[in-house]
Amino acid sequence: MKNALQCPSLFRAYEKHFRVGAAINGRMPADPAYRELICRHFNSITADNQMKPMFVMDRDATLARGDLSHAAVSFRSVDSLLSFANENGIAVRYHTLAWHNQTPRWFFAKDWSDAENAEPASRDVMLARLENYILDVMNHVNTCFPGLVYTWDVVNEAIEPDQGGPGLYRTRSPWYRTCGEDFLPAAFRAARKGQAPGQTLCYNDYNAFQPVKRDAILALLKKLQAENLVDTMGMQGHYVMDWMNVSLCEEAARAYAALGLKLQVTELDIHCNSDDEEHRLKLAQLYGDYFAMLKKLSAEGIGIEAVTFWGVTDADSWLTGFRRETSYPLLFTRDKQAKDAYDAVMKAAE
Ligand code: XIL
Repeated sequence: MKNALQCPSLFRAYEKHFRVGAAINGRMPADPAYRELICRHFNSITADNQMKPMFVMDRDATLARGDLSHAAVSFRSVDSLLSFANENGIAVRYHTLAWHNQTPRWFFAKDWSDAENAEPASRDVMLARLENYILDVMNHVNTCFPGLVYTWDVVNEAIEPDQGGPGLYRTRSPWYRTCGEDFLPAAFRAARKGQAPGQTLCYNDYNAFQPVKRDAILALLKKLQAENLVDTMGMQGHYVMDWMNVSLCEEAARAYAALGLKLQVTELDIHCNSDDEEHRLKLAQLYGDYFAMLKKLSAEGIGIEAVTFWGVTDADSWLTGFRRETSYPLLFTRDKQAKDAYDAVMKAAE
């Protein structure tokens, strides 16, 4: 294996096709080896957490402000990532504006109460809070860092994940419970108001390759398109080695693109619980096939804006916590060595 700090750049290899990005955490910009690794291999970054509502919404300031339809925001963690990107000339994808997860529960409460069983705010109040929040974030980012963000995850994970479930939408989401499906177009309408020229608005979801979920997402995208509210489909791309099916990914990607949307792979990783030779080679095979498929789509004229890995090295992956076993899902080892999977991705670019 080779030191990832000395290997040819991933993003340069795909320059003609799409950006290659990574999700970074709040500690990486202060770590010289990570800084070097990120600048060498990625021309897009996103925050693994720092831009999510729970790190932006400020309850004390909200209570002090005293406006029930307008939460106060604090941009410390957002600005630190944007400054790093700006200093290094790396474009940014903003993840994420409206999500059921990692959004403080007080944001949904009638009186900003943080109690578990607090009375929810009304639909109209929630729609006002949503628009105010989205515009506050977009105005701040676009004013303080013009030209840096190229795409916004406006709504994340709104479709029911349970394949056996009855409905289209994730009904347990506090967004759905307070506003019904109206929160989706409302979020995108606000984002259309707040976007700067050249920025795309993205709907982002996981398991977007699975046929049942794919069809539900397609139905949602068509509704949003009827009002010209969405530009890009973000396929998260959290895969598991034993079930990953590159042909299904290709079919889904083609179906989204056939609507006239751009594509992104927004959170790529392939869970595998060993790095013995057999697993290393299987991982390499899957990554190679996957990138070859994406390159083929791009060569056919399908617009792929970016392919973003969810983490930089295996040490940063959320999967070890999420799957409750050590995961080896990315291209670089914990010691920042380039894996066979890196070689396979580089080969697919040739
Ligand atoms: C994950 C982060 O990586 C973790 O650090 C955090 O604890 C939970 O969220 N889908 C998404 C991402 O859209 O925001 C999630 O990120 C992973 C799944």
